[in-house]
Amino acid sequence: MNVVNKKSWDNPVPKGIEVDGSRYSSRDFMEKEWEFLWPKVWLLLGREDELMNPGDYQTEEFGRESFIMIRQKDGSVKTFYNVCAHRGARLTNNPWGKTEAFKCPYHGWVWSLEGDLKEAQDHEDFPEGDPCGKLKLKEVKCETFAGFVWINMDENAISLKEWLGPVWEDWQAYEIDKWKPYLMQTVTMPCNWKIILDNFNESYHLNTVHAPEKSVTTKRIASGMDTSYKTTQFDLSKQGHNRMIMKGGYAFATMNEDGEIRDPLYSVMKEWGINPDVYKGKPEETREALQKAKRAVGPERGYTHYKNLRDEQFTDTQHYTLFPNFAVSVWTDGFHFLRARPHPTDPEKSLFDHFWYASQPDKETAPVRTTKGIVDRNEFAERQFFNYGEESMGQTIDQDGVIFALQQQGLRSRGFDRAYYANQESRVHRFHELIEDYFNGVKP
Ligand code: FES
Ligand SMILES: [Fe+2]
Repeated sequence: MNVVNKKSWDNPVPKGIEVDGSRYSSRDFMEKEWEFLWPKVWLLLGREDELMNPGDYQTEEFGRESFIMIRQKDGSVKTFYNVCAHRGARLTNNPWGKTEAFKCPYHGWVWSLEGDLKEAQDHEDFPEGDPCGKLKLKEVKCETFAGFVWINMDENAISLKEWLGPVWEDWQAYEIDKWKPYLMQTVTMPCNWKIILDNFNESYHLNTVHAPEKSVTTKRIASGMDTSYKTTQFDLSKQGHNRMIMKGGYAFATMNEDGEIRDPLYSVMKEWGINPDVYKGKPEETREALQKAKRAVGPERGYTHYKNLRDEQFTDTQHYTLFPNFAVSVWTDGFHFLRARPHPTDPEKSLFDHFWYASQPDKETAPVRTTKGIVDRNEFAERQFFNYGEESMGQTIDQDGVIFALQQQGLRSRGFDRAYYANQESRVHRFHELIEDYFNGVKP
């Protein structure tokens, strides 16, 4: 059984550095990130089950770099820089595929799945010696966890398990490696990547951006969360990862004036075999009722991970931000994947990956709820690429998106000096402090 343990998080107190606006638009700052930050950190890059068989590969852009992840004949995954060791052409522009070897489009050098050079035309004509059997593709340190492929450009990096610290154990309980994608949107955003992480590092904006009309009286937004910082648990790890646990499952915002429960909670309760009418006028009691029902009914419906979960994991938001560029809300049966990638050349743009993975109970046919509404459990998502504003990301994330663009415009103004953080924004403050620590060679 997974144990909630505040003590396992170090909760360092932020030093209180000044966070100005220029870091969100400055090219110098972007260069420093490329020199001191990105090559030193573990990055979540891809999904293991998209590389089922030997020779399956996927390329993923990360800022100015591109990486190829390849399933090997021995079942492991290797990752290489997507660049030919002859004269530096990019090896492939295919986002994914299956191959026996990579043939460079320039002079046709052939590279094996293991990264060895197998063929080069006129191989006898090289004064430094035959490149075959000598040159290799440059490999990137790679590990897998929770069904994801993670990389680190620093070959001396600590293990992924050590890097993730308390997050590792928290996530293991959910069996996330078996979960499947139901939404996969990659969106070019009009803001620096850090604006996205700032936003997912605080819950101070929930009442104002996501439910202004409900917040004043109840402090609880439509999904039934208690958004007050006073009842929310915030944890920081020394590695720079954060956790926020916010109580949920309440009926306040979904009740009408007569105290009757309405959707979406009404349908959710019915799905779990609870009669919502019994809870008329008792908004405080639905959280516990949901926890009990899921605990009782889940295993027989094939939700194998429920036996590993604590009661609050059936109702409460378990939100994580992994330093530096990944955030996720881990719901009982949903992994709301929020990753920001730097733009290759423009500090005022970024790529935002907005995915949703859901659990795969053995017997259950119930629909899956993503931010874009209810989807068919049997239909997995295909990846979409678009520019911000061309398509919806679902109401909540669209609301965040509006703020991202607004804040980018404001932060480049001479009228903004520095951020003035609340205590409940400590995760944002610490995030910037850590980036500066990396610049100064201070490791967590
Ligand atoms: S650059 Fe790849 S074969 Fe020449
Ligand atoms: Fe938000």
